[in-house]
Amino acid sequence: MSLEGKKAVIIGGCGHVGLPLGVKFALAGAETTLIDIDAAVVEKVNGGSFPFLERGGDEQLRLAIDAGLRATTEPMKCAEADIVVFVIGTPVDEHLNPKISDVVQIFDGYVEYIKPGALVVMRSTLFPGTMEHLYNRVSQAKLDLNLAFCPERVAQGYALDEIDSLPQIVSAFEDKAFNAAYELFAALAPEIIKLSPLEAEMTKLMANSWRYLEFAIANQFYMIAEKNGVDFYKIYEAIRYDYPRAKGYKSPGFAAGPCLFKDTMQLASFFDHQFSMGHSAMLVNEGLAGFVVDKAAAHFDGSLWGKTVGILGMTFKANNDDIRESLSFRVRKGLEFKGAKVLFNDPYLEGSTPLDELESAADVLVLSTPHREYGDREYGDRAFTKPMVDVWGAYRSSTLELFPGTKNEDVASLKRANQ
Ligand SMILES: NC(=O)c1ccc[n+]([C@@H]2O[C@H](COP(=O)([O-])OP(=O)(O)OC[C@H]3O[C@@H](n4cnc5c(N)ncnc54)[C@H](O)[C@@H]3O)[C@@H](O)[C@H]2O)c1
Repeated sequence: MSLEGKKAVIIGGCGHVGLPLGVKFALAGAETTLIDIDAAVVEKVNGGSFPFLERGGDEQLRLAIDAGLRATTEPMKCAEADIVVFVIGTPVDEHLNPKISDVVQIFDGYVEYIKPGALVVMRSTLFPGTMEHLYNRVSQAKLDLNLAFCPERVAQGYALDEIDSLPQIVSAFEDKAFNAAYELFAALAPEIIKLSPLEAEMTKLMANSWRYLEFAIANQFYMIAEKNGVDFYKIYEAIRYDYPRAKGYKSPGFAAGPCLFKDTMQLASFFDHQFSMGHSAMLVNEGLAGFVVDKAAAHFDGSLWGKTVGILGMTFKANNDDIRESLSFRVRKGLEFKGAKVLFNDPYLEGSTPLDELESAADVLVLSTPHREYGDREYGDRAFTKPMVDVWGAYRSSTLELFPGTKNEDVASLKRANQ
């Protein structure tokens, strides 16, 4: 299937979700326009550069531009399209409730200009019930639009690989809208999952909340072990060693960024803040920053006055340039409050202290984001000489003591039977 002959517009089109999707639309043959209020990123995109790190980004963007992709700040471009996709941010407010008014206001700002009969796809992560609200608004305003919800599920930085390879969720209140959205995403994806809009809204939130909880339990166990002077990574290795049921056991580390926290809080808000496991996960994951600060201070009897701490990595995830909701900033504040002079390095950001300079100035290092440039057991040979707070276990030295048994054959068949 191709999108030849279609005119597509993406609102929020130069963001982390909108831009890779726009590239895919253009490469599939659609005449694609990205509408975004950020003039600087619009210019960058039209110049052929991704404004953030995306694997294969610039190369595919240039091909998409050759195929006709354009970015603009001109909102009225939405009037020309027969496919309009909304991919604006959907944050939570200071009370951890969704800012639905943001979505509604932006939707209202465009929707009356969209031409009758067009497919309108919501691609942002939505608070459950938002689709019904939007559908009712459209019906009350007597607008002839086909409204669908197709939540994005890619991992940041890997969207161009994943849009083509992940099954896409497609939902709508009406068959006509479902069919139009199905046609759009079937042109890109290997398989389509049909859900109702409410199911789709909850699917997306529950998928992200589940990941957030998985990280939380790893972080909680890490804190329990380390607080008791036990090397958690030895326990971690022991749990996983040749034990199939623990294969997916997550390792500790900062669970941050623009999605997992806020999506868990959206689900909590949807459940009248009775999603106690979600709230507990939030306390653990956010609390890990303070735990790391205390670990750094513990190298100096709890006080960091007169000490210099070097933070390695400020972005929210490794090998990426996105600082949104990164816990490194909370670590920095905590260290400064305890009296430390804080330097930071990040190879993906401008203006940070060079690594060698940081290491020689620091009394202790904190590995906040395990970028590949810092080296580890996987990437190699970088050896830091300063003490290190290493919640990620990138430099862990724990090795299990293993001894041969006599029942190797029996063990193998027992393992097969238990899998
Ligand atoms: N980042 C991810 O990897 C990811 C993955 C899956 C789902 N999501 C969801 O996708 C949605 C978008 O996230 P994102 O990371 O792409 O956000 P983003 O901030 O990177 O992109 C949003 C874009 O919308 C633009 N924008 C804001 N208001 C606008 C307006 N009125 N008109 C036109 N453009 C406007 C912004 O300038 C920005 O470029 C969120 O709901 C998020 O939860 C994100």
